[in-house]
Amino acid sequence: MDNVIDLVNKIQDVFSTIGVGGNDSLDLPQIITVGSQSAGKSSVLENIVQRDFLPRGSGIVTRRPLVLQLVTLPPASTEEDYGEFLHVPTKRFYDFGEIRQEIEHDTTRIAGTNKGISRQPIHLKIYSKRVLNLTMVDLPGLTKIPIGDQPADIEKQIRSLVLDYISKPNSIILAVSPANTDIANSDSLKLARKVDPAGKRTIGVVTKLDLMDAGTNALDVLTGRAFPLKLGFVGLVNRSQQDILTNKSMDDAIKTEQEFFVRHAAYKGIAARCGSTYLAKQLNSILVAHIRDKLPDMRSKLSAMIGQTQHELAQYGDPAFIGSAHKGSLVLKMLTMFATQFTASIDGTSPEIST
Ligand code: GDP
Ligand code: NA
Ligand code: MG
Repeated sequence: MDNVIDLVNKIQDVFSTIGVGGNDSLDLPQIITVGSQSAGKSSVLENIVQRDFLPRGSGIVTRRPLVLQLVTLPPASTEEDYGEFLHVPTKRFYDFGEIRQEIEHDTTRIAGTNKGISRQPIHLKIYSKRVLNLTMVDLPGLTKIPIGDQPADIEKQIRSLVLDYISKPNSIILAVSPANTDIANSDSLKLARKVDPAGKRTIGVVTKLDLMDAGTNALDVLTGRAFPLKLGFVGLVNRSQQDILTNKSMDDAIKTEQEFFVRHAAYKGIAARCGSTYLAKQLNSILVAHIRDKLPDMRSKLSAMIGQTQHELAQYGDPAFIGSAHKGSLVLKMLTMFATQFTASIDGTSPEIST
């Protein structure tokens, strides 16, 4: 069943490569990370991937959307974990420090050296035996006050970028809130409620549970009593800044996190539903179920796009349009191919896609 994620990833690549607005018109299912700056978004993603690969630091670090496709390597594979950027098509990155540098480098290339943001996404794929198939988007953190030479309307720019992503009905919102603030009033949950008032496609993530004041806990949030979300809340303990400075390994971090929940008086009863490993599993099954749900709708949208492309192609009689006609037939070919696969996956006729 995981193959439906693969299918959606392929369509995403095709549309990003040929540069048509397919991503928008198809509204592909993906998980969108939302939260205020320093809420722990990048830490959550790194825990899910179980690798250090994201730029970090204080202030605004994520300045372009990062579309992150995680691809499970088969258990028998002898391949090491590696990453691939859509903008560096010929290279496999085996060094995850180099992945971070490439993200930083390409962020500066497109968004400049000041603290401005750009809407143009970076596409990164990570292949590993340790990841579940997932497609996630990391976005700039919500902020209130411009810093340094940031434009005065930076808050508005980021909000509008985030809203563009999360208002698409097929997106799943991963709303990250730090436990050491008023969670039910967090920026991410407030924004999520705007576009998903019934709380049907928002999953809440509470980070920094280790930093709550002594004697307080977030049990009422984690059990859904404080803020109802159909997909629920998952509590996490990511690495602290100190852990990062001392190079605490990912394996150690996951162990410490599990111990925290199992030993904590308030959380031990729900420890099996807490932590990064549980979150990764939840996200994978939510995404698979969500895509399944949306397949018929995506199929009819694909058909409509095929019809439109055929119609456009029919207009190209003039040699001046040869370039566009070529691009058009390429799009048509891709669309038809995927439509066939989609149909097979819905009708259950493809052994590759049925579970
Ligand atoms: P982002 O701006 O939302 O991407 O946040 P980051 O993931 O960069 O985290 C911001 C800071 O908070 C970093 O110094 C992290 O080490 C720290 N941090 C994130 N999550 C936790 C957590 O669960 N516990 C602790 N103690 N620190 C955390
Ligand atoms: Na940050
Ligand atoms: Mg970040």
